Amino acid sequence: MKRTPLIAGNWKMYKTGPEAVKTAQTLAGLCSDVQNVDIMIAPTNLSLPLVSRAVEDTNITTGAQNIYSESQGAFTGEVSAEMVRAAGAEYVIIGHSERRQYFGETDESVCKKIRAALRAGLKPVLCIGESLEERESEKTFLVLDKQVSDGLKGFVLDELDTLVLAYEPVWAIGTGKTADVNQVDEVHQHLRSLLKRLFSDKTAEQTRILYGGSVKPENVTELMGIEDVDGALVGGASLDADIFINIINF
Ligand code: PGA
Repeated sequence: MKRTPLIAGNWKMYKTGPEAVKTAQTLAGLCSDVQNVDIMIAPTNLSLPLVSRAVEDTNITTGAQNIYSESQGAFTGEVSAEMVRAAGAEYVIIGHSERRQYFGETDESVCKKIRAALRAGLKPVLCIGESLEERESEKTFLVLDKQVSDGLKGFVLDELDTLVLAYEPVWAIGTGKTADVNQVDEVHQHLRSLLKRLFSDKTAEQTRILYGGSVKPENVTELMGIEDVDGALVGGASLDADIFINIINF
């Protein structure tokens, strides 16, 4: 099965509404000829409706960076899957390591948010990754297996048709350090066989597994050359349209 690559930009807590719209419009102009690559940008929730509208008739889609698991209610400060869907998002990033690290996200809350995303018709991008300490003590696979199996606990096969996995070693995020080709290759192969074991051949075959962590124009070609790498989740290098386009054109 051929998987369409997905290049996703995670804009984190950067850019005001007008700044986000401007970058999105510049990017739309630069990538209008791109084919056979899915492009997604995830601005802040505040900019999401503005950016979604700005890219409506282009080949760019949008995503949210987080959601809460309930559809509505007395949950001050939170935003639901249905709300970001209505704001134009097609995807939602769930369980990013910064959310796990700074905002108490757990595999259990991740699992509920994946359920919420699917309920609202959003495509979930489930982020997983080991810390430097976990890698050095050879716990990488143990950590990833737990994040995947607990994050996807209780799902049945067909529910996961739109799932995207993003492997982001915590030590490579925003640090300029990228995992080397062998490390990425090894983990992505492992994740695909894990999906096969937990779900089915079909789930394993169709799930796009992205790599994230200091992806830039200089290393994207090598990373995308790895068989089981189906795209990239890009932070810093997605903020500037003139740089991000060079990643999209890997
Ligand atoms: P980075 O971030 O590309 O700046 O390392 C990646 C991410 O956090 O998704």
